[in-house]
Amino acid sequence: MAWSYIVLLSALLGVSWCAEDWTFPPGFKFGAASASYQVEGGWNASDKGESIWDRFTHTRPQNIADGSNGDVACDSYNLWQTDIDNMKALGLHFYSEDGKRYYNDLIDGLLKEGIEPMVTLYHWDLPQTLQDLGGWTNPLIADWFADYARVAYSLFGDRVKLWLTINEPLIMCDYPFNSGLLAPGIFSPDHGTYLCNRHVLLAHAKAYRLYDEEFRDQCNGEVSIANHLLWYEAWTEDDEEIAELARQNMGGRYSHAIYSEEGGWPSSIEKVMEENSKKKGYCKSLLPAFTSDEIELIKGTYDYYALNYYTSRLVRPAKEGEELTVYPIGDIPDLKAKTGTRPEWTATNSSFIYVAPEGIRKQLVWLKKTYGDMKVAITENGAPDLGGLNDQGRIDYYREHLKQVLLAIKEDGINVTHYTAWTLMDNFEWAEGYSSKFGLYEVNFTDPLRTRTPRDSAAYYANIIKNNGLKADS
Ligand code: NOJ
Repeated sequence: MAWSYIVLLSALLGVSWCAEDWTFPPGFKFGAASASYQVEGGWNASDKGESIWDRFTHTRPQNIADGSNGDVACDSYNLWQTDIDNMKALGLHFYSEDGKRYYNDLIDGLLKEGIEPMVTLYHWDLPQTLQDLGGWTNPLIADWFADYARVAYSLFGDRVKLWLTINEPLIMCDYPFNSGLLAPGIFSPDHGTYLCNRHVLLAHAKAYRLYDEEFRDQCNGEVSIANHLLWYEAWTEDDEEIAELARQNMGGRYSHAIYSEEGGWPSSIEKVMEENSKKKGYCKSLLPAFTSDEIELIKGTYDYYALNYYTSRLVRPAKEGEELTVYPIGDIPDLKAKTGTRPEWTATNSSFIYVAPEGIRKQLVWLKKTYGDMKVAITENGAPDLGGLNDQGRIDYYREHLKQVLLAIKEDGINVTHYTAWTLMDNFEWAEGYSSKFGLYEVNFTDPLRTRTPRDSAAYYANIIKNNGLKADS
């Protein structure tokens, strides 16, 4: 089964806003996230089938920085009780089926500790058998996904009230198909990217409608889709137009159909894609059109906006003949756009994350301006390093981002209800293998017991949760 988990704990205190008051509103929830392939291991346990990341890492280890895979990962398949204990120590908590037993144990274990499970149905681990039938490029996947959602809702909907259908379509469609360097390892920038984009939106919508029709009355939960949004900022004041186009290309292509009043693709992107497709000699746009029934089906399929935010980019039009690179997260050839970073955005060991905390607030403001007032859950935010228990860089990252979230709540009136740290513990970071560490807990991957040790950031985050905010001096 292809799941990820975010576990939430309610923080109870709250006072009103003044300049020195960095407290969150009462009822604000803090959590930590993780994902099945990245932590569970048990890759061939019981009756589990092969996923696209199993196949990719086993056949193309050269595409993973340290040649590793998620066969054992953090062994959370066996060590889930330890994970729950660690979540409890943080003040929050956590999570995964040889068939349904494993997930039932996990969900029940979390609830026992007062930790709410937030479940993502799909976090990039498509069964290889479906990939062999075309995976996300096959339109039938929308119905397959809804069938799968029905199974999960039926089994766990009595206890799981927060659902995410699909995690980061941008990262599972654009980056793999534009580069061929991530699972499923297929290079198809013209077709794969946009077919995947279209079918993800349809799959999400069908799973959402199904919840409405068959589960909402008895289960009373909330469903959304998690989008990874980079904040694109104009490089110079003349570049505002291309910056907005970049936001529509990355965020709008996965949001407009769901959250806008008119639905469908963002019109600015439709126009660019028509022109590009014509220039490439295609008789139809590479951005496959929606029928009017499909537009209606997708529109409004959300109970909240789920935002994953990590970093920002500057953007400007590319100069004549300038080289554009797309991988890992780089320039945008379809828009002839060059991206860069500000000197004050400190680099991390990940080639894609530069520390740009103000971007999260700007992103939240853009979402409200573009799609109106809605509940927003920050479903991922975090920074990598190379390891070690003293992780002041991560503490600074969390503090500065949380401050910006608070400003968005208190100054911009944005209804942010949840904040989720990525991630509970070090895990398999896709093409970076185990070399990039994002964890509040360090994991010893050479120890067969996969020992978890809290970093300084774990104590820091636990305090934030306990105080429902930042202390004036922290
Ligand atoms: C977002 C993805 O959902 C997660 O799988 C990944 O590990 C983090 N970003 C960090 O890159």
